[in-house]
Amino acid sequence: MIIKLIRTIIIVLCVSCANRANDPDTSLHEHAVFPVGTAISANNLLADNPLREITLDQFNSITMENDMKMRSIAKGPELYRWKIVDSVVHFCENNDKRLHGHVLIWHSSVPGWLREMDGQTDSIRNFTEKYITKYVTRYKGKVAGWDIVNEAISDSAGTMRNTFWLENLGQDYIADAFNLAHAADPGAVLFYNDYNIERDTVKLHATLNMIEKLQSENVPVSGIGLQMHIRMDVPNDVIAYALQKCAETGLQVHISELDIIFNKHNDTKAGGIQQYTEFTDSMALAQGDKYKAIAEMYRTIIPEDQQYGITVWGFDDGGSWIRSFFNIHDWPTLYDDSLKRKPAYYGFLNGLHSE
Ligand code: XIL
Repeated sequence: MIIKLIRTIIIVLCVSCANRANDPDTSLHEHAVFPVGTAISANNLLADNPLREITLDQFNSITMENDMKMRSIAKGPELYRWKIVDSVVHFCENNDKRLHGHVLIWHSSVPGWLREMDGQTDSIRNFTEKYITKYVTRYKGKVAGWDIVNEAISDSAGTMRNTFWLENLGQDYIADAFNLAHAADPGAVLFYNDYNIERDTVKLHATLNMIEKLQSENVPVSGIGLQMHIRMDVPNDVIAYALQKCAETGLQVHISELDIIFNKHNDTKAGGIQQYTEFTDSMALAQGDKYKAIAEMYRTIIPEDQQYGITVWGFDDGGSWIRSFFNIHDWPTLYDDSLKRKPAYYGFLNGLHSE
């Protein structure tokens, strides 16, 4: 009798879960207690476009995939292109979306004209300070959080990455960037953001040590961003460990650029090895489970008041940066090439809420 009752309850629960997931009106962000975001281009967001529609329906946080990076904004030492960001801010205000600022200082987005000034440290410092202050002040109260510094730590060795910024400004460039941003907008959450920290324990601990040192010097770091560009074979317990360690900092924690690939890559441009040529049903289901596990781990390991949210990096497999950047044909996202929801979507959805 009791067994029969339990079975009935299980069946009812399963059916209601499946129904919820298959409902065309389902919205990812409505199923989460924390913000759920996506990365999109301003072009797609601001024009009549299916990606804009998906963004409006599914997500309540927005990251510009490229349009807020230094190369898009700083066209010269005193020449800033704000127009696009102004429009994006306007869109977010009108549509009740949170705007996440990505990114102020990143070695991969140094404008050509600035790179040519290599070695002229005073001019570079002068530009950088003005840039951060002007940018963050302009969008004070409109950008909820900023990735202040991206990818400052090298792979595996856990040392500082040797970048344009480190070479020209010395290692204080990180503390300076946080201080300037905080002075410009004391209300914004200020993130250090990096990749592989969920899987590379040396890099994770180097990141945590750096943040701890910054905090001991009263540098206003208030968040840690795990990009989370992962591969299917990154073990869940390794990811859980990293999330736990990030939670222990007491900072806001953002899974900032989630996608999940199958093929191997070595984190450099075109550094991909095509192992899988076909996306089978069983791969699609396994990816759904992985997306679910990530959302579940985030929801259960990160305390609610530290949950800045989860942002996925783009929409569909065809449009994802993975194919062009690593030169591999992969299937990393929630939607297929024709914008149909994949099992990844449903897995993610089910991981976002408690059953
Ligand atoms: C990527 C974009 O998706 C691409 O369109 C662009 O060509 C290169 O940058 N880590 C980051 C993101 O912090 O800004 C990167 O975005 C992906 C890796």
